[in-house]
Amino acid sequence: MTNRVPTWQRYLPISLRQAVSINRFSLLLCLGIILANCKPPSPEDYRSWTVYRGDAASTGYSSLDQINRENVADLKQVWIFDPQDAPDNARLPKYECNPIIVDKVLYATSARHHVYAIDAVSGEKIWSFDPFNGEKGGGIKRGVTYWEQEDDRRILFTAGEYLYALNADSGIPIEGFGQAGRVPLDEGLGRDPDSVWVIPTSPGIVYENLLILGSEVSELYDAAPGDIRAFNILTGELVWTFHTIPHPGETGYDTWPDGAWKYAGGANNWGGMSLDNKRGMVFAPLGSPSYDYYGENRLGMNLFGNSIVALEAATGKLVWYFQTVHHDLWDYDLPAPPSLITVQKDGKSIDALAQTTKSGFLFVLDRETGESLFPIEERPVPSSHIPGEEAWPTQPIPLKPRPYARQSITENDLTAFTPEDHQFLLQQFREFRFQGLYTPPDTSATLMVPGSRGGSEWGGAAFDPETGVIYLNSNESPEIARMIIGEQPRSYRGSTPYQRGKRFYQNYCAACHGDDLAGMQPDFPSLKSIKERMSKEQVLQRIANGANKMPAFSSVLQGNEEEIIAFLFDLKEQESIENSEQTKKESGPFNITAYSHFRDASRRPAIKPPWGTLNAIDLNTGDYLWRIPLGDHPELRQPGAAPTGSENYGGSVVTAGGLLFIGATRDQMFRAFDKENGELLWEVEADGGAYATPATFQIDGVQYLVIAVSASDQYPSGHLRAYALED
Ligand code: HEC
Repeated sequence: MTNRVPTWQRYLPISLRQAVSINRFSLLLCLGIILANCKPPSPEDYRSWTVYRGDAASTGYSSLDQINRENVADLKQVWIFDPQDAPDNARLPKYECNPIIVDKVLYATSARHHVYAIDAVSGEKIWSFDPFNGEKGGGIKRGVTYWEQEDDRRILFTAGEYLYALNADSGIPIEGFGQAGRVPLDEGLGRDPDSVWVIPTSPGIVYENLLILGSEVSELYDAAPGDIRAFNILTGELVWTFHTIPHPGETGYDTWPDGAWKYAGGANNWGGMSLDNKRGMVFAPLGSPSYDYYGENRLGMNLFGNSIVALEAATGKLVWYFQTVHHDLWDYDLPAPPSLITVQKDGKSIDALAQTTKSGFLFVLDRETGESLFPIEERPVPSSHIPGEEAWPTQPIPLKPRPYARQSITENDLTAFTPEDHQFLLQQFREFRFQGLYTPPDTSATLMVPGSRGGSEWGGAAFDPETGVIYLNSNESPEIARMIIGEQPRSYRGSTPYQRGKRFYQNYCAACHGDDLAGMQPDFPSLKSIKERMSKEQVLQRIANGANKMPAFSSVLQGNEEEIIAFLFDLKEQESIENSEQTKKESGPFNITAYSHFRDASRRPAIKPPWGTLNAIDLNTGDYLWRIPLGDHPELRQPGAAPTGSENYGGSVVTAGGLLFIGATRDQMFRAFDKENGELLWEVEADGGAYATPATFQIDGVQYLVIAVSASDQYPSGHLRAYALED
């Protein structure tokens, strides 16, 4: 908006181009002298895509420039890879993989968690691996990790509660790794493995012979602790553990009630990590402690919940930490690895990191000390009304950059598609508890702005090291948190699918459809004998997508599909898949409307557009370069009005060709913008939602772009599609 892009000459000690040409030269030298031992180009030259999000620094940057501003309009689809692994009549959930490319081979997971090696030029399958041996599988999985040592080349990935190592050339599990090629992840956490689940969704990161790995755990009262662990890639042995919920004697122990380390869970790294290879430091953004919305059993600041922790990669020793939310009550997980950046400040070049958030704050911290490069104030925030809860009295507010998502709204921001719709919203809005960003969840329903799916998601940011500009896509989708104080299932595990489904139903569905499935006429339909009316797939789709006044439950549905169907279709005889006897219940306040968006009676957005934005911020100054709506809902705007923006999931890629590539939006487009000014230069429909981060790479002189596209009627398994210029 205001600033010009500063040229890199102003502040980079040597130009990246020189650096790249030096690398090219040494590569040639290397080729000439010891052909057999040559390594692939180092990620620092930004020409390869061998790591999730492009490189270990999570820049999402590529120095490739064959595709550029002048010719991007000529991009053509060159291949499609359809894994065709969805079970009959099923549509797999969101396909969020960011593939990696090593030596002309693309490695990707599918939405069903199979792993594929694909010829990156032709899109032909080379091998595939099914970790479930034909059984059901799937859920969110964002990709794999590559490691090599001389001739030993491995693909590391997680599926279910296991870490696997495969031979990268054959796809066959490595015998000597763990137990026949895999390591169970629910062990070694100081909990009964049957009482917790640990299912990483993002790939781990490699440091020398270590795979450093976080996890996704339950969001409920019974969550496993979010330990970060490093495994020996040769053997699968556990090498170190960092306790994100500190044990006695460890830093942060006194920010929890005594003994909480034995029962508290969460504070997990589910979004992936960044690595500074030179310093031997790994940076892990952490999620909320569990239960997400109520912390009576975890009073205190709750380190290292919602913190960025900097660890020695070789040992797991804590170097520094920075907590972005104290005693989280909003599910404001740190959602993506920080971008490792270098910026100019007061004439000095500073290695830093930029951490995206769901709150819309960008934290820019010195990489060595964790100190913020811009001023931060601890400001008083509202207290909780729920018995037993003690919201932390202050929260850290960065004064720069300005937040990239709306953190507050007034009645003037409410939509008015019809007068009745507006009235419906006004009435709700006036009843909500809302005193700004950190208003605690309440029994009278709290409005959460931006909400747990506002701001940034797992796609994170792209950072251009040539200019010091960071690119952030962001959501504007406030949510409602209505707390009830009553019985809360301790776990969905144990017992039969029917019983687990019943508990799931009581938590998420009974408020509208009634305890006895009878519904509430006329608004909420009865679900009795639903099996006569709808197929299982239709029901799952309805739960995932919502309809009219029914909110979408896609995120809570994941992993509970079988049980909710068992309950709704009255499949009582079904055996338990997990024979744990644990059916303990625990009383506790519960957010009955978790994840539900604030919408009008016709399920249209409650707040005026934009509903999604794309932002460019110069991190040398903290000032915005530009900000535009990302995505569009033409059906919800006046003809000729600006695009509305849309909810978006997945990250962007910025290139030396002057482009910013991003899919992510609900309108299912894949786009390229001019990185200097946000001008739209290319867009194409993706035959499904391109809710993933693209990858770019060059083979035999041709630059490619590839993006994962979620399930559609045409491709129920989701698919990968590749683009290049035609010659
Ligand atoms: C906030 C209220 C609300 C909640 C909570 C809710 N629903 Fe609904 N549900 C509705 C409404 C309203 C409809 C009717 C939508 C329409 O007009 O098609 C509906 C429709 C349905 C339908 C289709 C029924 C039919 O006959 O067409 C199914 C199935 C369903 N809901 C299942 C669930 C399940 C399972 C849950 C819990 C995960 C759930 N709902 C939670 C409000 C809700």
